[in-house]
Amino acid sequence: MEQKKIRIAIIGAGAIADVHIKAYLQYPDLCEVCAVCDLFPEKAEQLIQANGLTAAKAYKDCREAIASGGIDAVSICLPPQMHAEIAVEALRSGCHVICEKPMACSLEECDAMIAAARESGKLLSVVVQNRCKTPNQKVKKILDEGLIGKVLFATVDSLWWRGQSYYDLWWRGTWDKESSGAMASHGVHHIDLMQWMLGMPESVYAVIRNVGHDNSECEDLGIAILNYPDKLVRLTTSIVNHDEAQQIQFNGEKASIAVPWNVSSNASMVNGFPEENREEEEKLQKYYDDLPDLEREGHPAQLLNFLRAIRGEEALFVDGAEGRKTIELITAIYKSANTGTTVTLPLTGDDVYYQRGGFAKVMPHFHEKHRSVENFVGAKPITLGRDVGK
Ligand SMILES: NC(=O)c1ccc[n+]([C@@H]2O[C@H](COP(=O)([O-])OP(=O)(O)OC[C@H]3O[C@@H](n4cnc5c(N)ncnc54)[C@H](O)[C@@H]3O)[C@@H](O)[C@H]2O)c1
Repeated sequence: MEQKKIRIAIIGAGAIADVHIKAYLQYPDLCEVCAVCDLFPEKAEQLIQANGLTAAKAYKDCREAIASGGIDAVSICLPPQMHAEIAVEALRSGCHVICEKPMACSLEECDAMIAAARESGKLLSVVVQNRCKTPNQKVKKILDEGLIGKVLFATVDSLWWRGQSYYDLWWRGTWDKESSGAMASHGVHHIDLMQWMLGMPESVYAVIRNVGHDNSECEDLGIAILNYPDKLVRLTTSIVNHDEAQQIQFNGEKASIAVPWNVSSNASMVNGFPEENREEEEKLQKYYDDLPDLEREGHPAQLLNFLRAIRGEEALFVDGAEGRKTIELITAIYKSANTGTTVTLPLTGDDVYYQRGGFAKVMPHFHEKHRSVENFVGAKPITLGRDVGK
């Protein structure tokens, strides 16, 4: 029997919502966007018009759309502080949920989302579109196959650039509404990739600063050391790097590989000094080249998986438990940076850093927010990282 089209609501009609809509529009046989919701309904209306969403209605109150009975699945494209509340409400109303990053502002809220998914039997996914990029998939495959031997050291450079006005948007740069500065808004992409490829560390030590953004309570620069039994990872997240030279590099026993794709390998001379190992490099290069490219990348790839998982055709690529891991790492980074201690995972429920509103209670304000706009007027479409999946 032919399956009905999945009826989608887009919740939040800001910058990233357009990316979700354009992705869903690639799958007209599988789904239809039936609602776009925003506190500013004119923004919802504008997206409906611009994308020719003839079946869609604009809502000011997303709860009305969720409760209408006419929605099967929602894309949550709201500011982070609303993610958990709306996800739980949508799941309890019988909708499948895919939520933009960061999954939520606290581990307590992540757990509420996961519980709501379990209790409702509906799917909960979290956007990690960079996992759906060919080089990241190929590098993960090389690591999983053990082709560079044991990983000894990895470096993660989640380097971005944002101007001062970035933080003028009312919810950004606040511990209560955004839950972070650079780590959960930008570093989240590479932290997720890193933990997907290497798993979770035992402990974390971190330092954070705000070096260049005077309208944000939170950090714009952070450096963390992730401690595994057999390796270290050095992670830097910054939004002050003009070149946005993002890189994730794995140094194994046999070779070093990186995204953007790079491979190098040394053999040891008799005195231990390096000699280029062309044979190893060519072998890894050939393996990389022979792996197939993804048919689709980024949001369109992940949203297609979400739709197919709803139809029972394939397993969900990323569920709530998987999305939660990245929030746990970020939470440990903040706890370490604020306490000056090494933080051991996992974090427990009695920890203030685990709790809803915990960051707002304990994290320092690098600056007080003194400029705020409801919306940016005349902004061009946003960029989603330069080198994150090359
Ligand atoms: N995956 C990515 O690469 C990526 C890129 C950008 C943003 N994001 C994430 O997407 C989310 C949204 O970011 P954005 O840049 O689109 O923000 P935005 O401010 O442009 O859009 C958010 C929209 O939500 C609306 N809104 C706020 N509260 C609401 C409520 N209670 N009900 C209905 N609408 C409400 C706002 O009016 C706004 O239009 C954030 O979590 C952000 O981190 C992800």
